[in-house]
Amino acid sequence: MKLMLPASCEPALLERFLKAEAMALWSVRAAQAKNVPKGVLEFLLRHEEEEAQHLKEFEARLGVISHQREKLPRVPSQWYALVIHLFGYEALGLEFAKLLVQVQPELISILEDEKVHVGFFEHEVRKVVEQGGTTAEAARQSAGAWWRRLPPTVERYLEGSEFDPYRDQLRKIILTSIEERFMNVGLLDPVMS
Ligand SMILES: [Fe+2]
Repeated sequence: MKLMLPASCEPALLERFLKAEAMALWSVRAAQAKNVPKGVLEFLLRHEEEEAQHLKEFEARLGVISHQREKLPRVPSQWYALVIHLFGYEALGLEFAKLLVQVQPELISILEDEKVHVGFFEHEVRKVVEQGGTTAEAARQSAGAWWRRLPPTVERYLEGSEFDPYRDQLRKIILTSIEERFMNVGLLDPVMS
């Protein structure tokens, strides 16, 4: 499905992208305090630097300070659930990055970074799913719960009059794309959707 958004949507898309990035950044910060597998921590630290850089770029571009939080959000303590949470928010950020690049092609490097972030967590999710047994089942249950909370989250991200003419299409594009991603890694069954 191809949707041509007007350039007037750029600030709103930037703002929503910032919001998803901030969510991923807080989760990454909170995740560092948790027990994460070897190798993942190193990626998380690098990832945090990139996310912070994106936030700075956008704040300068928009002339606003992004969402600030004094306290880190609560994130799941088990890796099989935490990785779903990180994968999910990165996937949501990527959807807004894709829309953003449609209206502002200069931001292509941000899209490339986001693809790497999503790819990394996708790989980690696959490792968990491939373990099979109770861990894989628990990961699938977490993914099911995350997926059921996604529509109201997307609804909040699509608030604002700029999106009025496009909301139905945007909602469909975002939810379909994330659902496909979750199904491709074996987190969701087609019948569950
Ligand atoms: Fe990211």
